[in-house]
Amino acid sequence: MLGVGAYIPERIMSNAEIAETVDTSDEWIASRTGIRERRIAADHQGTSDLGLEAARRALADAGVDPAEVDAIIVATASPDYYFPSTASLIGSGLGASGAACSDVSAACTGFVYALAQAYGQVASGLAETVLVVGCEVFSRLLDWSDRSTCVLFGDGAGAVVVGSRGGARGMLGFELGSDGSGGDLLSVAAAGHRPAGQSPFVRMDGPQVYRFATTVSVESAERALAVAGLAVDDVDLFVPHQANQRIIDHAARRLGIPDAKVVSNVARYGNTSAASIPICLDEAFRAGRLGAGDIVLMTGFGGGLLWGSCVMEWTLPSTKEQG
Ligand code: ACO
Repeated sequence: MLGVGAYIPERIMSNAEIAETVDTSDEWIASRTGIRERRIAADHQGTSDLGLEAARRALADAGVDPAEVDAIIVATASPDYYFPSTASLIGSGLGASGAACSDVSAACTGFVYALAQAYGQVASGLAETVLVVGCEVFSRLLDWSDRSTCVLFGDGAGAVVVGSRGGARGMLGFELGSDGSGGDLLSVAAAGHRPAGQSPFVRMDGPQVYRFATTVSVESAERALAVAGLAVDDVDLFVPHQANQRIIDHAARRLGIPDAKVVSNVARYGNTSAASIPICLDEAFRAGRLGAGDIVLMTGFGGGLLWGSCVMEWTLPSTKEQG
């Protein structure tokens, strides 16, 4: 891990604001999800604009010139286009000419999947430096008259730079998986959907997804720790996907990870899908909660249905040590 960055749109949308247009309340949303507010991209901002700014910040943090980037992997469920890829747009914006650019479609698990691909490329020698971005403008995938989904999501972007310059340390274990039979529990129809004419917005069976998430977030984290040969007590920071505070609390409790080691910002940003984990990493790092040698456990889950966890040794010195 050579650098990390994030970009959050300025516009804040509170629960009270949503309650002005649909039959809901701050009390219902906060008690069921922990979400108080979320950010909404400006009309002139696309997903790639959010990702580009996060990418610039991560590259600056890493001290890596865009020209040195061999590959850009973007995790997003809300791309600007089917093609060109969001990665191509970000690569162009950065001036990373010649970098291999592709998007990963793995919904809220996208960042962990993209990180695994980046790790594989660096470990195999296919690339030396890879930019991994998670970015979403989920607000444009929502039916704003559907209270069961519109209250849950928000916009944002986070990015990391991974590379062989960091030495052999870093990624200690991955665990990725899927259960495609649950695909229709959480979906957004695209152009090739059959039958034609489906709503282009998020459709979700909330209670079923909740059951899946609470189970898989614990099991995947435990399997990734086993792959890394580590125990829960070795974990210094737990970074779960930010879908719902109740899911985060449940996972931490079942795993036996104390609150002080758990990152949560779902109250401020809602569910930013593939962006949630890198945004959390950036915030934790800036807050001095991460230093070289710390063991980080990341766990994602969501549409697919997919899950994925990564155990990583943080290699950047703490921002506290950097003064
Ligand atoms: N405000 C007020 N009432 C609401 C709202 C709302 N925003 N939304 C739903 N309700 C109502 C329902 O209509 C229902 O009313 P009824 O009993 O009269 O029919 C009642 O509240 C209970 O609805 P449930 O869906 O059973 O509520 P639940 O307690 O399960 O909470 C929630 C819903 C928060 C969506 C929960 O199921 C959840 O968090 N699920 C997981 C969602 C998730 O993590 N999704 C993202 C995965 S990541 C990805 O890949 C995108």
